[in-house]
Amino acid sequence: MSIPDDGSPVIATPRLRLRAPKVADAPKIAALANDPEVARMTTRMPHPYSLTDAESFLAACATNDPAQETVFAIEHDSEGLVGMLGFHPGEDGRTELGYWLGRPHWGQGLATEAAAAALVWAGQDWKRRYLLAGHFADNPASGQVLCKTGFLYTGDVVLRHSLARGAPAPTRMMVWLA
Ligand SMILES: CC(C)(COP(=O)(O)OP(=O)(O)OC[C@H]1O[C@@H](n2cnc3c(N)ncnc32)[C@H](O)[C@@H]1OP(=O)(O)O)[C@@H](O)C(=O)NCCC(=O)NCCS
Repeated sequence: MSIPDDGSPVIATPRLRLRAPKVADAPKIAALANDPEVARMTTRMPHPYSLTDAESFLAACATNDPAQETVFAIEHDSEGLVGMLGFHPGEDGRTELGYWLGRPHWGQGLATEAAAAALVWAGQDWKRRYLLAGHFADNPASGQVLCKTGFLYTGDVVLRHSLARGAPAPTRMMVWLA
């Protein structure tokens, strides 16, 4: 982990750099996020996803309280920005991990690599003792990422609204302990 002049953390992995998102990321975020197969696995991403949606998201990130919420752009060594990862206050105020990758970048272990490194940062530098995550029951790939990075199923399955689906979906809750 390193901290550049603006104070935001940068996390390096063998293939990736997790860094604060910037305004110039908007076109790439919009291009990768405007995919129903990405958006429908998340709660908050709309579909279609426009450049304006990316710009609004980035403007909101800029106002985050870094003690409560942190968002990283996931930048690949040769591919540039491939997705996003964030720690957000969940419905009950407890911090939750979320992430997405653009579809061309699936299936290469990148989400696992990003999440594993982000969790080390969250435990060691952000001083979180536990974190939650939830994945839609029809998204086993995300469940696998969470299992591989040390999350355990709590047994709770809750209904969470998906903006892109326009409907709630059963969500399997998981917990990670530092
Ligand atoms: C979920 C997502 C982040 C996974 O990214 P990724 O880089 O492909 O993930 P990884 O390659 O690190 O790991 C995926 C794992 O899921 C497994 N997997 C993939 N499809 C699967 C399926 N249908 N059933 C079970 N496991 C599956 C892979 O085999 C891999 O596990 P392995 O390494 O043990 O073989 C990506 O598909 C994505 O962004 N999806 C849309 C948004 C999303 O789902 N975000 C998470 C919301 S909770």
